[in-house]
Amino acid sequence: MKLRAVYPGSFDPVTNGHVDLIQRSATIFDQVIVGILRNAEKAPLFSVEERVEMMEEAVKRFKNVTVTAFGGLLVGFVEETGASVIVRGIRAVSDYEYELQMALMNRRLSTKVETVFMMPAETYSYLSSRLVKEIAQLGGSIHGLVPNVVERRLKKKFQALRIMPKGH
Ligand code: PNS
Repeated sequence: MKLRAVYPGSFDPVTNGHVDLIQRSATIFDQVIVGILRNAEKAPLFSVEERVEMMEEAVKRFKNVTVTAFGGLLVGFVEETGASVIVRGIRAVSDYEYELQMALMNRRLSTKVETVFMMPAETYSYLSSRLVKEIAQLGGSIHGLVPNVVERRLKKKFQALRIMPKGH
């Protein structure tokens, strides 16, 4: 039987920490499906289409990894794809509480799905999409922190936002 895992997240945008985790997952599971949340609550910087495009570019070298957008409950999406595992990354102890809460709630919602926590390389343990966006917005270098496609798109995005008149 093939072991299929879903790696879910907002990925607004994907960082090298996420890619590191995807690479590690791809060596453990037969198939990894990256599930990109069509954010209902958060207002993402990138549209779901942009996030999917960037992720596809970032993971195209991994032959057993696919990228799909999803809405609604994560466990519903996981069951639909035929996966039995949710992969989540834990960088520091501070991530643990929220992740534990989600994992236990997801287990309550579906007993067929198990959550597996993985650690990215320590070089990425302080990296987050939020910080990357902040640095890029303030003109700092994000080189080496995100895939090249994301670096280009972030520069373009903030340039476009800067030249837009107020209120847009
Ligand atoms: O990258 P993020 O924002 O930490 O990812 C959070 C995500 C997408 C895994 C979480 O928000 C989620 O699963 N959303 C789908 C809705 C859902 O199933 N909610 C109940 C979770 S217990």
